[in-house]
Amino acid sequence: MQFLETAVEIAREAGALVANYHERHVPFESKGEFDLVTEADRASEKLIVERLRSRFPLHAIVAEEGGGHETPSEYRWFIDPLDGTTNFAHGFPMFCISMGLERAGEPIAGVVFDPIHQELFTAERGTGAFLNNHRIHVSTAPRISESLASTGFPSRKRQHNINIHFYYQLAMASHGVRRTGSAALDLSYVACGRLDFFWEFGLKPWDMAAGALLVQEAGGRVSEMTGGPLSVSGSEQILADNGLLHDEVLAAFADLFRGVQRTPLPPL
Ligand code: IPD
Ligand code: CA
Ligand code: CA
Repeated sequence: MQFLETAVEIAREAGALVANYHERHVPFESKGEFDLVTEADRASEKLIVERLRSRFPLHAIVAEEGGGHETPSEYRWFIDPLDGTTNFAHGFPMFCISMGLERAGEPIAGVVFDPIHQELFTAERGTGAFLNNHRIHVSTAPRISESLASTGFPSRKRQHNINIHFYYQLAMASHGVRRTGSAALDLSYVACGRLDFFWEFGLKPWDMAAGALLVQEAGGRVSEMTGGPLSVSGSEQILADNGLLHDEVLAAFADLFRGVQRTPLPPL
């Protein structure tokens, strides 16, 4: 499909640009409290938006750093020009470019490119998910007690985020809960079976658009953490898993939601 091929081309080009900044150790600035943004985020976004606009001038583009193109269109791209900025800013080699496309509100294509490990995750609705052109599938872990999970925490206002309670309980119940620092890579890793499930509060459409489709096309399930259907532009939290774990994880979350209400977070 022309959309996917074009997105792959652009993600590779943006990935090379970001990797070059990484090698040169370009300094970063702060957007606000703990919210880093680098020159690389902006340069990557500019490149992606320019390329998309020249190939698909009528498409809408929603991009994290605000350089998108709002226009009425049934096609809408969700662009994270650099997912994992905190890692990037510290020279921790775990970040990616994420590009998701929906048509009439339905996700139809997704690309996640990790330029350091040269891993390209791609999916199109109805045709499966791929890592470097090899078909990928979610894992077969049947229980939380046999699983490896991942989650994330927002870079801002972390004290208002109840996820630390979820992290603690799930880390005790599973083989462990990783924190990669890139939600798009977390989702890609669920899609290829390296992780069995992933959840996070407070995500944005550009964090999830490509990765959620990858998980579904790899045979997994995505929903909100309360079990409701996931809407990339409407939901602010996600559970993505291999499908086998879905009900057990939702039940654990339901207990936690009840418990957290009884256990307010201590003041900082
Ligand atoms: C962040 C990463 C991180 C997640 C945060 C996101 P950014 O995106 O995906 O893993 O925990 O919620 O905001 O700021 O690096 O593009
Ligand atoms: Ca992001
Ligand atoms: Ca970003």
